[in-house]
Amino acid sequence: MLTPKPSQAVNNMKFFADTADVGAIAELNELGMVDGVTTNPSLIMKSGRDIIEVTREIAGMVDGPVSAEVVATKADEMISEGRKLAEIADNIAVKVPLTWDGLKACKALSGEGKTINVTLCFSANQALLAAKAGAAFISPFIGRLDDINVDGMELIEDIRIIYDNYDFDTKILAASIRSVNHVKDAALAGADVMTAPPDVIRKMAHHPLTDKGLDAFLNDWKKTGQKIL
Ligand code: G3P
Repeated sequence: MLTPKPSQAVNNMKFFADTADVGAIAELNELGMVDGVTTNPSLIMKSGRDIIEVTREIAGMVDGPVSAEVVATKADEMISEGRKLAEIADNIAVKVPLTWDGLKACKALSGEGKTINVTLCFSANQALLAAKAGAAFISPFIGRLDDINVDGMELIEDIRIIYDNYDFDTKILAASIRSVNHVKDAALAGADVMTAPPDVIRKMAHHPLTDKGLDAFLNDWKKTGQKIL
């Protein structure tokens, strides 16, 4: 596992909620655990809501970037969809897939000053192209690589080295996070951001020894007969 350089360590790792469930976002937001939100067509489908309406509501809840994904596959249509999505709010990040057309759309939309998240990244070369096309975020999908027996975390490590070698500003947004260990390993590998389902973020607080220790403390406390309030 790589040790992040001191220059990387000055930035606070950002947590994005990978969901279009406004209730779950609100709960995490109260704890200051939501620096941004990522959605995709599958998450919009799961929410059962209209993309424009739910994205506007989410964008009003958080200060950080809210990714909304285009569904066109041709660059010119992606650009039109991206412009429409970007109009929803100032903090929209337009998500485009890592295809040749997606890169064209990334170049055009980032040239207009829009924040672009290039998604469905599965290789370091794809990440290099996205950075050159002006992406603000690159989203390597860790879990889906693990699904096919490829170490998703190695991709994060490779991109970190490449981006640092050339001082690319593109932020590494570790995506398709399925477990608390993915979060830890992404942090160790120096990902700038991780996006995870709210449940994974909640699970990060759990440890059986914490529960066991708390039970023991509370049992002993009962025996004292004391009260704090
Ligand atoms: O951020 C991308 C994410 O939503 C994909 O996750 O679990 O469907 O691979 P998953």
